[in-house]
Parts: sequence; structure tokens; C-alpha cells
Amino acid sequence: MNLFTKELEGLKNKGLYRSLCTIGGAQGPKVRIEGREVILLCSNDYLGLANHPKVKAAAIKAIERYGFGAGASRLVSGTMIPHAELEGRIAAFKGAASALLFNSGYVANAGIIPALTGRGDIIYSDKLNHASIVDGCLLSRAALKRYKHSDLNDLERLLKESSQLKDGRERKLIVTDGVFSMDGDIAPLKEIIFLSKKYNAMVMVDDAHGTGVLGKKGKGTAEQLSVSAEAITVQMGTLGKALGTYGAYVAGSRELIDYLINKVRPFIYSTALPPNVAAAAIAAIDIVEEQPELRTALNGNAQFLRNGLSDLGFDTMGSETQIIPVLVGDSGKAIEMMDNLLEEGFFAQAIRPPTVPEGTARIRVTVMANHTLEDLNRALAVFKKVGTMAGVI
Ligand SMILES: Cc1ncc(COP(=O)(O)O)c(C=O)c1O
Repeated sequence: MNLFTKELEGLKNKGLYRSLCTIGGAQGPKVRIEGREVILLCSNDYLGLANHPKVKAAAIKAIERYGFGAGASRLVSGTMIPHAELEGRIAAFKGAASALLFNSGYVANAGIIPALTGRGDIIYSDKLNHASIVDGCLLSRAALKRYKHSDLNDLERLLKESSQLKDGRERKLIVTDGVFSMDGDIAPLKEIIFLSKKYNAMVMVDDAHGTGVLGKKGKGTAEQLSVSAEAITVQMGTLGKALGTYGAYVAGSRELIDYLINKVRPFIYSTALPPNVAAAAIAAIDIVEEQPELRTALNGNAQFLRNGLSDLGFDTMGSETQIIPVLVGDSGKAIEMMDNLLEEGFFAQAIRPPTVPEGTARIRVTVMANHTLEDLNRALAVFKKVGTMAGVI
């Protein structure tokens, strides 16, 4: 057995092996797998914009006007008009002075955190933050203090502890998901900001799953919690989830954006987003601003499914949003449940360690604005059946 096979066998034995599944057609409430129509319960295309006619038309028009590729890093071959327009739109949307695009959320986090902090600095990171934040923290070489999930006492304990250190440490950064990607709960931003002021720390919020979805106008977690945008040093978010396109952004002060242009290695050393992707994202923001009914439908669907699942006896782990984890515990059992769901016509993913803590494997269900009540009622009936078979309820 070669090295790779041996390791893969180990993953299979622990129920941790991952594999790809090809779907036919675009992202949408229903997709085809091996010729069979199934209901999609694992896409982050929450508002159904990935296949929206206005988003597609904007991309096609931009291809005709600007071609496909961006040619190089923007510091090399220039910012193209859709990049500049999109940054202006994002800054206004997020209530910030300025914004900067990145090629993906992963890349943004892996680049921004090491630009903000380095050796001698301290990062305070929620234990359930996304892997891209964890990787950014590790790349930064700053001291990493992980606080218990959304636990303000633990965060303050760590902040207090380090404020007593006298070893020349300087910058402090608190970083948190806005909406936790595998749990669907919302970070206590107001209290985090209070602590950041008390202990003189910067705050970075990754609003990958709040952007376009939370708040009256879809501006995200800060709007939902009535937190002023200026109180957050770095507002990061992605374009590939509720906005249905691709890429990521940071919104903040002009000085911050200028600093990031000069310091973020993946911004400096990587080809920019294709201009048509930026044009498509502008169309997506237009839709978010013009069609609040999409958010209303999404929130209604999420509430219906979340309540239905907990009424059936499932543990939805404190979810408050369109991301609804269904706790299973054991990884093997989560896979079995995922396979049975697919057999019954529902595509939802089993999420296992190391993505989530040991013993908390789950089916991560995501709801879309364009799921019908019939889709969701059928989902509840099928969850009841497969959950009972797996002994989860
Ligand atoms: C909280 C969070 N941050 C960042 C990312 C990465 O974003 P992208 O998919 O654009 O790389 C994700 C993706 O799942 C996420 O959930």
C-alpha cells in the first residue's frame, strides 16, 4: 500500500474520508445527481442569485465589454472599471469609507490577518472560527489565543491576561465569524466591540454568511445587531455565498484599505478577479437592495425548517439563521444519514472533524429563499425517517 492509500484508508476507517459529487445544472433548490432530481440542502447560494437572470446578464455584458481575464495583479496591470465600481458599491453597502476586493474569502483571511499582525502581536480568535481564519492566524506568526465559542468571559480573561504581559507585545486583534459557518449562530458583536475598546484591540468580523442575508437591508451581522460599522476595524465578507458570485471584500477606513493594498501578499502577488465576476456581484448587490422579499422568504423558510427539525427532536445547536446544523455526533453515523437522505432525494452534507470539533459530526442543512413549502415539508418527513433509522431521534 503506498503512502497516500494508507492515509486514505485511515480516513475511511474513521468515517472522515471526503469525496466529490457531480451535480447537473446550476445551483438552485433542485439539482440533478446521476440523472435524478434531488432537493439541494447544502448550497450557500441562499438567495438564489447564482443563476439569477440579472446576474448572468451583467456577467455576459461585462465579458463583451472587458473580455475575460484581469491580466495580472491590479498593482501590475491596473484596476478595471468593474473592480472600482464594485468596491464603491461595497463601501456604501457596508457603511464604510472604502473597500478592497480579494479573490476568495479563504485568500482574504489568509492574507489580511498576517498583514495586520505578526511576531509579538496577539490574536484572540473564537474556537469555532472558519478554517481560513485559523490558517491566517497561523501564517501571521502572532501569538494565538483561542477563546471558547462566543464566550465573553473567556475572551476577557485572555485579554486581561495578556494586557499584563510586559514583553513588548503590541497589536491585539479580536477575530470572529459574524454568522458561524457550521453552527448558524450569530457572534455577540456588541459585547466583543465593548471589550475591544476596553483592551485597545482591533476587531475583524468575517461576515461570509451574514452578507446579503442579515439586517433589514441585508448589510449583515452588524446591521442585524445594530452595531455601528465604524466600530469594526475590518469588515470582511464574501461574494460567493448569498451574493451568488465569487470573491471577497474588506470594507473599512481609507487608511486600512491603503495599508492592505500595500501589505496583503495574496492581493499583491495574485491575478485580480475577472472583471465580469465583479460586474455580476454589482448586479447581485442591486438585487439585495431592491428585493427585500428574498430575505423575507429566506428567513421564513429557515425558521420553518429549524422549528420543524427541533420539533422532531433534532438538536439544531443554537442555530439562528439559514445554516441549520443537525447534530449526529458520530462521523460514521453522519455519513450513513447523508447517504440515506440522498437515497430519499435530498442532498445535504455530513460535516465531520476536523471541520467541526470531535464528537459533533452533523448534517449541515442550508436553506434557500426559493425552496418551496412543499420541498421543506418533504425534507422534514425524510429527516424524521432517516433520523429514526440512525437512532438520532
Ligand atoms: C466564515 C467563512 N469565511 C471564509 C470562507 C471562505 O470563503 P470563500 O468560499 O469565498 O473562499 C468561508 C467559506 O466557506 C466561510 O464560511
